Amino acid sequence: MRILLGVTGGIAAYKSCELTSLAIKAGHEVRVVMTANATRFVGPVTFEALSGNPVLLDTFVGAPLPGSTSAIDHISWARWPEAVIVAPLSANTLAKLACGLADDALSTVLMAVPSAVPVVLAPAMNTAMWEHPVVRRNLGWLRDLERYVLVEPISKRLACGDVGPGGLPDPADLLGLVTGATAPSAPVAVSGVRS
Ligand SMILES: Cc1cc2nc3c(=O)[nH]c(=O)nc-3n(C[C@H](O)[C@H](O)[C@H](O)COP(=O)(O)O)c2cc1C
Repeated sequence: MRILLGVTGGIAAYKSCELTSLAIKAGHEVRVVMTANATRFVGPVTFEALSGNPVLLDTFVGAPLPGSTSAIDHISWARWPEAVIVAPLSANTLAKLACGLADDALSTVLMAVPSAVPVVLAPAMNTAMWEHPVVRRNLGWLRDLERYVLVEPISKRLACGDVGPGGLPDPADLLGLVTGATAPSAPVAVSGVRS
């Protein structure tokens, strides 16, 4: 299966390295899109070495796909996967998805993924962030779209020392979720929008 992995700036980004490794060992193809802040936690070279593919970091810096059907990278990367997972998903990028912002490579690619392709979101953050009303609201907005498969974070002792929900599930569980994810229901049509 062709899996697109989005990585954002969270302490659990190191677990996405293991997710990549597990997916490759299981025979999947993996391509990785990182936010700029994700690169402060894990270097893109790690994902490049683990996946055997270049990492997309910037909407405006070319990372063409071989045999691509579009010369525009965020479109060709969005058309490539059979399944998408964003792990870890930061509170910041979660908010961007909920509001429809597309101001970096990851959020722009996610906007362009065809509706039939499942997109799994695995948020991970400090417990107070997870329980913040604005994060709850953003999650509710995402849930209402019926576009995403939302993965609950696990409860554990987090890197910040808090014990509670906010941890990224084990990479093996995430791999099972993304490879088993079925196409989400069709997005609700927006009426009154003219082309
Ligand atoms: C050490 C450290 C750990 C962090 N861990 C998380 C985290 O687990 N989840 C989260 O949402 N933000 C976390 N942040 C904050 C994000 O990195 C920050 O909100 C950033 O703007 C996210 O950018 P991005 O969504 O573009 O990747 C952490 C920041 C630092 C310095």
